[in-house]
Amino acid sequence: MPVDCPFSIVEYGRVSIARIYFEEIAPTYNQRLEGIYWSWFRHRELRQVETFIDSLQENEKLLDAGCGTGFYGKYFEKSKSLQVSYLDISPSMLGQIDSPRKYCEAVEVFALQDRFQTILCFGVLEFCENPQKAIENCLKHLLPQGALYLIIPRKGFTGKVYQSYHRRHGVTVSTVSKSQLDMLVQSAGGGIEKIEKLFPFNFLVKVHRG
Ligand SMILES: C[S@@+](CC[C@H](N)C(=O)[O-])C[C@H]1O[C@@H](n2cnc3c(N)ncnc32)[C@H](O)[C@@H]1O
Repeated sequence: MPVDCPFSIVEYGRVSIARIYFEEIAPTYNQRLEGIYWSWFRHRELRQVETFIDSLQENEKLLDAGCGTGFYGKYFEKSKSLQVSYLDISPSMLGQIDSPRKYCEAVEVFALQDRFQTILCFGVLEFCENPQKAIENCLKHLLPQGALYLIIPRKGFTGKVYQSYHRRHGVTVSTVSKSQLDMLVQSAGGGIEKIEKLFPFNFLVKVHRG
């Protein structure tokens, strides 16, 4: 069931294109993830992410920014009893999440009263016109000792395959090298605490406030 958008969506740059695209694929998004290839791939990814995220405390507040249908947020909500908030530009993605804390907004401009111990921004920045603004805004919503975790595609052959997949659907996505990511995070006022390659084409990154 689609969800109402209580906040206005600021439609600028790629946000509107990404929104149309994800609205279109939202009804079959979970089905796709349950297919043999994607479910193998996602569970492999989940294992690495779970080991990488070393800062989760029971009952803490986590924001899943660009949550899609809430794959990660739902998982951590259950396994670690966290209080999870969900944010996405696609009402139809959010409509598949059963939670009182859902926000239909762009990661670059959302403004919540809450501050979070942990923010996940997985597979979102590549769709943003201004990823620096998105990182800045996430960092603003962290508690002083909080951590922002990113999944972002890296430059290289597999990153190019990912880009051309999206190009076929009219969507432009960015990839980054490690030094570009370093600069991006620094200009957003953060620092990279640790970074790993995440199969097949991503970086998995932990960012703290600078
Ligand atoms: C590839 S999916 C990843 C979903 C989820 N994070 C996951 O790992 O399963 C990207 C999601 O980001 C959302 N998105 C794209 N651009 C966004 C933006 N500027 N602000 C908020 N969400 C955005 C899309 O609607 C989509 O649900």
